[in-house]
Amino acid sequence: MKKLYVKTYGCQMNAYDSAKMADLLAPLGYAASDRPEGADMVILNTCHIREKAAEKVYSELGRLKALKAQKAQGGGRMLLAVAGCVAQAEGEEILARAPVVDMVVGPQSYHRLPEMIARSAREAGRALETDFPALEKFDSLMPPASSGISAFLTVQEGCDKFCTFCVVPYTRGSEQSRPPEDILREARQLADKGAREIVLLGQNVNAYEAGGWSLAKLCDAIAAIEGILRIRYTTSHPRDMAQDLIAAHGSNPKLMPYLHLPVQSGSDAVLEAMNRQHGGDDYRRLIERIRDARPDIALTSDFIVGFPGESDADFDATLRLVRDIGYATAFSFKYSKRPGTPASTMRKQIPEDVKAARLDVLQKLLLKQQYDFDDSQIGKTVPVLFEKTARDHGQIMGRTPYLQPVHVHAGAALIGQVAEVKIAKRTANSLHGELAKQGVPA
Ligand code: 5AD
Ligand code: SF4
Repeated sequence: MKKLYVKTYGCQMNAYDSAKMADLLAPLGYAASDRPEGADMVILNTCHIREKAAEKVYSELGRLKALKAQKAQGGGRMLLAVAGCVAQAEGEEILARAPVVDMVVGPQSYHRLPEMIARSAREAGRALETDFPALEKFDSLMPPASSGISAFLTVQEGCDKFCTFCVVPYTRGSEQSRPPEDILREARQLADKGAREIVLLGQNVNAYEAGGWSLAKLCDAIAAIEGILRIRYTTSHPRDMAQDLIAAHGSNPKLMPYLHLPVQSGSDAVLEAMNRQHGGDDYRRLIERIRDARPDIALTSDFIVGFPGESDADFDATLRLVRDIGYATAFSFKYSKRPGTPASTMRKQIPEDVKAARLDVLQKLLLKQQYDFDDSQIGKTVPVLFEKTARDHGQIMGRTPYLQPVHVHAGAALIGQVAEVKIAKRTANSLHGELAKQGVPA
């Protein structure tokens, strides 16, 4: 067997793509390895969403150069591929800047990896594949070779929203939805391999639309698959939060009460400059409707601080919105200029120290909300889907409906099942509790 090491950066969609690349290369004799040392092939599946992501890739390439040289000394060859969104955005530049790289493959062309590898074995040249053959890759993918208890399933890719800060419309292309029958087949295959939770993925997953099917309809069809206990989806745009999807949160018991709905800012002026196509109050009203359908829903968001032109008053509006909504958890970032995006050339860029100070204030508020939310579970009995054994001996780890990790002293036999857990305490990153009853499936 040849050894394949895949390193994944960025979002869940990259994690899904990495697993698919590994499945694609298995018939060529590659088996997954958890380290790059001695690997016959290394794939860096990259992210381009913020500055540091691309820089990390170049420094990783520096380290890999030494490993590749070692491998060559021993008479072997380490193939080095850069995949993902940095590959899409900077393909030619990567080949020019990092001679150690053998192939560059974009997120819509990675199904061509086997052919690229064969080509590189024949002729020692370097290869670049960054076309956009929309959704063609899904036709070439293998059925999942294995599955965890919680499995990702890409249903939609790309984005037509063109938020002025974001590279996604350029790296992942325009919105494309996979046919429902393909998705349902993959969901059944995952369930057969042991998946009990399906996480539907898309850059704009709630914009899903194919052959008259909406995301809500897809969730209902997946809920009917034997073995599937829970369904989640990410990431959604407020503009695409359709009424049938909101209603599904009230009517589909397998759809978990958890929603990642990024708002980015609470200021109408900033939202406008970001081209988000809604204001702060539109978002507040939307959340009200969602809470009407599912009162206990846990909300999460992404925030950007220091967007060009953001004033102190704009930032205060963001803090106000966070207080009004109350998040279970959230991600927040300093604005970073992305080449080619409209915001990168806007005047009134915000100084780094102002961004850092705002981020600090926002993150303290968000962390307090997270702890308050986690603490609100203490003393309650909640259904936990167990996913794996924990690092601590004798414990297993699972998640509440609200995606909070929970650690419990219990046997591995419960993995893959939902059991009621009485929550006793919270540590920095996890809840802890005791089984209320033995393995009662929900
Ligand atoms: N700068 C900072 N954060 C960004 N994001 C996307 N583009 C940028 C950028 N240029 C954040 C947004 C998005 C998340 C995935 O990454 O908050 O929702
Ligand atoms: Fe980027 Fe906006 Fe599309 Fe999200 S909706 S991927 S932030 S352009």
